[in-house]
Amino acid sequence: MNAFSAGWLALREPFDREARAAAGASFDLKGLAARLRGEASALTVLDLACGTGANLRELAPRLGGVQRWTLVDHDPRLLAAVPGVSAPWARAAGLSMTTSAGGLCFEGPASRVEVELLRGDLARPLDPALPGRHRLVTASALLDLVSARWIDALAVRAHEAEAALLFALSVDGRALWQPSLRDDDGVHRLFAAHQRRDKGFGPALGGDAAQWAATRLSSLGYEVTQAASDWHIDGRDGAHSVAMLRAMVEGAAAAAIEQDPSAAPWIRDWTARRLDRLERTTLRVGHRDLLATLP
Ligand SMILES: C[S@@+](CC[C@H](N)C(=O)[O-])C[C@H]1O[C@@H](n2cnc3c(N)ncnc32)[C@H](O)[C@@H]1O
Repeated sequence: MNAFSAGWLALREPFDREARAAAGASFDLKGLAARLRGEASALTVLDLACGTGANLRELAPRLGGVQRWTLVDHDPRLLAAVPGVSAPWARAAGLSMTTSAGGLCFEGPASRVEVELLRGDLARPLDPALPGRHRLVTASALLDLVSARWIDALAVRAHEAEAALLFALSVDGRALWQPSLRDDDGVHRLFAAHQRRDKGFGPALGGDAAQWAATRLSSLGYEVTQAASDWHIDGRDGAHSVAMLRAMVEGAAAAAIEQDPSAAPWIRDWTARRLDRLERTTLRVGHRDLLATLP
């Protein structure tokens, strides 16, 4: 399972949903949608690095009404998975789902969400027409992967287009294991350093990304609201949580060893001790959601 695989995105989605529900109280998304839609027939939304569409599934019901989304990702397998992953969600939400070449549409009694799936490399200079066509630019679990330069360029483009921005689930550098074990901090330090490696967008901002975006967007005249959207993973909650904890331990260890191969012996020892007690472990991972709107 790698950081962008459909398996990992499916594993994390319930934790993302819970975390975003906690942050959601800080954002009036229905009001935002009404303001951004104005006299237009539909609210237009651009979702950057959409994966299998988790951000759409989270936001579309909260925005409500008629929406037209463009989902962009560079991975054709993830784009191809969007209809299959979304079908059970649509059924549970009482929405009908239809698919067409290059897109899909969800319809319910009070909403209609048209979705265009677009393959694109966001590490290349962004097509200026993209933010220009959308009133809301959003991304989830993307910001900590990108560089300061990338955020600055997007902020300028979005500002030119007078678009609002909503960035969900950017890691903020906090991780709290309970019970704590020897070497938790050492592994986390190496993991955090690994997060700052270039993911194709220039040196990644990691835990500083949300604050960087907030400062840049404020300087452009945006009103910025931030809220905590932490993951709470509790091994006592059952198999899915244990699987998530296992993925977190193994993922952190692999990244830490890649960052400092000479540390492999004590990191492997930490991994074994962590895996030994997953059912009795909780982990809180700090995230931030950020909404930026123009007055
Ligand atoms: C952590 S995942 C988040 C996916 C989704 N937004 C979610 O919340 O489930 C990061 C996403 O960034 C996409 N990505 C990474 N580099 C990219 C690039 N250069 N261009 C477009 N998408 C990219 C990956 O394919 C993956 O879908």
